Amino acid sequence: MFSNFAAMISPIFFPGDISYYFSAERYGADALLKNELEIAQQYGAKRFSDFCTGRYCMRQCTSPLGFSGDILIGERGKPLLPGNITASLSHSKKICGAIAGDKSKFLSLGIDIETCGRVKRDMWYLLFTKKEIDFLERHNEEQVQFLATAFFSLKEAFYKLQYPLTDTFLDFPEVEVIVISNRFYIKLLRHVAGMFTEGRLFSSRLFRYKDEVVTYFALPA
Ligand SMILES: CC(C)(COP(=O)(O)OP(=O)(O)OC[C@H]1O[C@@H](n2cnc3c(N)ncnc32)[C@H](O)[C@@H]1OP(=O)(O)O)[C@@H](O)C(=O)NCCC(=O)NCCS
Repeated sequence: MFSNFAAMISPIFFPGDISYYFSAERYGADALLKNELEIAQQYGAKRFSDFCTGRYCMRQCTSPLGFSGDILIGERGKPLLPGNITASLSHSKKICGAIAGDKSKFLSLGIDIETCGRVKRDMWYLLFTKKEIDFLERHNEEQVQFLATAFFSLKEAFYKLQYPLTDTFLDFPEVEVIVISNRFYIKLLRHVAGMFTEGRLFSSRLFRYKDEVVTYFALPA
């Protein structure tokens, strides 16, 4: 059912200078290079499959940018890439996707994929600010399923964008989703490592296909 996802997520969603690759197929050990295989030895079955598929997708994106080598894991889980490339990946249960760009164009990229319905109300207090909860409460149940998933995904995508730049862990209530004219922004609620000031807004892109929500941020150089 998701085999045509890559075609659905058309180039309109990504500008030409972002390389992207999505897969509904799962990949195995053959997708890994030697050093990746070494670090994956200790993984359980699900993590191993996610890792293999993620590495496959990310390499599909970095290859056109001139890098097809090992993508190892850095501090707090960030993917380790050559200095001239920024890339990000995500898996939901159904699909995996990655994006990459040249650092001369983008300081950083962050992507996330979520399946609607997994962000339950009893988790809201950990994930969302009072303003976000008030916003969600103004919508009906079907809209809430989508919006709560979108808010969660936006926060995770933003985290993946900001961490490689700041080396700073940010918790969910430290950023807030703002919706302006049906567009989603992340507002920083704190100052981050001399890099970003409190109150800065980051513009996102969001794509929905059936129950899958894909969000990403691209910070221009
Ligand atoms: C890191 C995190 C965002 C990953 O999200 P997830 O839904 O668990 O998993 P996904 O499949 O979407 O993404 C996993 C990929 O994210 C990337 N990633 C993990 N940590 C990262 C980091 N610190 N910086 C950038 N990318 C990171 C990795 O490529 C990872 O895949 P890999 O381990 O196979 O290489 C999440 O586990 C987490 O720690 N969240 C807490 C912080 C947060 O989200 N704050 C929100 C407010 S900013």
